[in-house]
Amino acid sequence: MVPPTPDIVTDAVVADPVVADAVVEAAMGVARTVGVDVAVVATICADLGFEQALVSRADLAPSVDDAGATAPIGWAIGVAHQKAESRETRRTRGAFYTPLELARGLVALVVDASGRQTPSPRVCDPTCGAGGFLLCAAEQLLEHGVPVDEIGPSLIGFDIDPVAILAARLSLGLWLEAHGGDASAPLLEVHDAIHGSTPPSLGSGFDVIVGNPPFLGQLRRRSVRSAAQKDALSSSRGYADAASVALERSLDWVGEGGRIALIQPQSLLAARDAKVVRSRIDAEARLFGLWVGDRTVFDASVRVCAPIIEKRRFSLDLRSNTGSLTTFRGAAVEVSGEVEFTSWPELLADIEGVPILPGVGGARTGLGGVESLSALATPAADFRDWFYQLAACVGEAVAGDPAGGRVPVFTSGLIDPLAPLWGVRSARIGGNRWVRPSVVVGLDPDEVDASERLVPKILIANQTRCIEAVVDFEGKWLANTPVITVVPQRPGDLWLAAAVILAPVSTVVAHRVGAGSALSSGAVRLTAKMIGGLPLPQISVGAWDQAAELVEETVRSDLDSQRVREQLIQVGRLMQTAYGLGDRDDMLSWWVERLPRVVTS
Ligand SMILES: C[S@@+](CC[C@H](N)C(=O)[O-])C[C@H]1O[C@@H](n2cnc3c(N)ncnc32)[C@H](O)[C@@H]1O
Repeated sequence: MVPPTPDIVTDAVVADPVVADAVVEAAMGVARTVGVDVAVVATICADLGFEQALVSRADLAPSVDDAGATAPIGWAIGVAHQKAESRETRRTRGAFYTPLELARGLVALVVDASGRQTPSPRVCDPTCGAGGFLLCAAEQLLEHGVPVDEIGPSLIGFDIDPVAILAARLSLGLWLEAHGGDASAPLLEVHDAIHGSTPPSLGSGFDVIVGNPPFLGQLRRRSVRSAAQKDALSSSRGYADAASVALERSLDWVGEGGRIALIQPQSLLAARDAKVVRSRIDAEARLFGLWVGDRTVFDASVRVCAPIIEKRRFSLDLRSNTGSLTTFRGAAVEVSGEVEFTSWPELLADIEGVPILPGVGGARTGLGGVESLSALATPAADFRDWFYQLAACVGEAVAGDPAGGRVPVFTSGLIDPLAPLWGVRSARIGGNRWVRPSVVVGLDPDEVDASERLVPKILIANQTRCIEAVVDFEGKWLANTPVITVVPQRPGDLWLAAAVILAPVSTVVAHRVGAGSALSSGAVRLTAKMIGGLPLPQISVGAWDQAAELVEETVRSDLDSQRVREQLIQVGRLMQTAYGLGDRDDMLSWWVERLPRVVTS
């Protein structure tokens, strides 16, 4: 257990009186609609120092409850809170409340089976906002027959925003009153749960921690930590996303056998920064489920997930995180399947639907044991200084003359599988857009020293959905970072190496090894090491030879784009046979679906 951090002075979130007014107005509306004495609202406002909001809203007619008929009593208060705040303000705190269906679904996965014998499991949302998750937990506990008197004190929430805490106290207070309970029973406090001290209410640990912590990446200025906040975290975590720190802290705050469901960016599953949390989960908890959100769940562009975790009871359960786990999808948290857990990046690949590779090299990545591409060819990625050197010298080649005496420069955007798009599509290099980007090669300062690079090679685009490569069989092109080049050790192996790189299985391997590493969804970030590790075919050398011949024929003939695509798919089929995967139509069609659309010149 990480030692409790000392309390720090959080950059104060100042209560906005206009937003507080809107929250109180919504609460008055809820109280009147459900027949709870508005004095309950008054007491909570007075308790938290929001009397002014009460005075200004007291004489208003009840507002329309826009939370919907099936929402728990009080839900409309959170809705009003979100509406009253500008998007910009909400971004600063990462305050985007969870839709009801999703909050209910995640609560159902952790609240009804906390594994504790306590009268009512103590449920904490460390960044509770208006208390949406806690309302769902209250509902769930009531359905499970827990008496209302016990439910109230078992609801615990923190937030740095005083108006959010006001909203949470009003929501839960009115829900409890409407069900015959005590509005003041829940423990809801203004507290920095990410950088602040361990709360005294922790006791021997909460039974359930559920919620949606803010996704405050440390690369954006508006959400960057203060010096005091950084000091409060261990040195390695100063730049970690707030959501992953919240998850790590939850591992400290949950009791043995207790459960956690916290929404996280999907980068948790594969990002280097989140390795600390993943290792802690592996060491201290059992991962038994994974919820995966689609893009429609939040309006933000971040892909989200929630690992469903149970903290181990050390004396009883020392199994490691292997075996199957259940996956859930979408806003409705529906079961979508079972996957075998072998590693976190593989888990991400599984949920993204990347085909599984049993038997290739004995490992699911296909990288274990068999001979790899580096036995045939040498992959290399250039460094940033090459990029700057090239960018400084790039100019436009003259149309008509292929490169006007200059050497063509290829970026990833100019590479489709077996389709060089130089002169067809424009490319941005060094802040300028070029139709025929090219350089003069030589030793003068305004020329590029590239003689060693002008050899027959394969150029591979980066950050694409499938491995896209072109063959420079005459050694007349240059690649710009982050294009990866592959130079055969023996000239005759150029086409064999190209066939391996273009094989569907190589795209599968890249996605399994590099899941989650790319900038955009569904793409993969290639490295020279990953390309060097691509397995060579072991089953049919004949099919591999045929594929290599077809690659060469395609490159040397002047085919239209549609025909190139057809030949490429034929190469894919032959390589499936070469790897002994001829019956894996699922893999072939997954790969075909990822091929870029045909570009016509
Ligand atoms: C994504 S919202 C989620 C709120 C609520 N759990 C829900 O899902 O509806 C994140 C909440 O975290 C709060 N927050 C941001 N930083 C925090 C911190 N350091 N400690 C506690 N709460 C924080 C924000 O004010 C916001 O209400």
